[in-house]
Amino acid sequence: MKFFVDTAEIDAIADLNDLGMVDGVTTNPSLIMKSGRDILEVTKEICDLIDGPVSAEVVAMKADAMIAEGRKLAEIAENIAVKVPLTWDGLKACKVLSGEGHMVNVTLCFSANQALLAAKAGATFISPFIGRLDDINLDGMELIADIRTIYDNYGFETQILAASIRTVNHITDAARIGADVITAPPAVIKAMASHPLTEKGLDAFMKDWAKTGQKIL
Ligand code: E4P
Repeated sequence: MKFFVDTAEIDAIADLNDLGMVDGVTTNPSLIMKSGRDILEVTKEICDLIDGPVSAEVVAMKADAMIAEGRKLAEIAENIAVKVPLTWDGLKACKVLSGEGHMVNVTLCFSANQALLAAKAGATFISPFIGRLDDINLDGMELIADIRTIYDNYGFETQILAASIRTVNHITDAARIGADVITAPPAVIKAMASHPLTEKGLDAFMKDWAKTGQKIL
């Protein structure tokens, strides 16, 4: 399973990248707003840091304008994945941009039918938003499972990028189902290392070690 980091914060990306935990990065207009940075500048910096796909999202609503924005974003670096919304215009833009050889991430997916359309339009990634479905009392993970089944039934190569991940359990469940990629905020990825029994066990080992009076170095 590939790990993408869902942020436009350079320091957080670099921190995880040093551990080899970053296979790619996803951004969106809200994350760019939070970073307070210029989209073209910060995206270029991320692309220079990371070898894998870096998703940068178009903000136009009509297909022609999305295509123009997508081409401009793709000029930033070879590892740009142009992110388009799952609207009819977004699907048109996906078809054209993927036909030109650009990676395309179709975002804001909330149904299996939307995912089916994205795959047929040549998407490199489909981004089903788990957390936002859970927020309205639907089952985000059920959507991941449905898309996995449908893509496998027909041999679609579009990668399932489980997005809007809020908890470490979302990551376990997405991995169990066979999502190709997860994208999660840095804090959620770091939280995967925590377990209360690890803390408790380490505390006991350290107390016993102190009683021995020994040193390794
Ligand atoms: C994915 O590409 C999106 O940027 C992201 O996962 C959205 O997450 P949110 O629902 O927590 O904003």
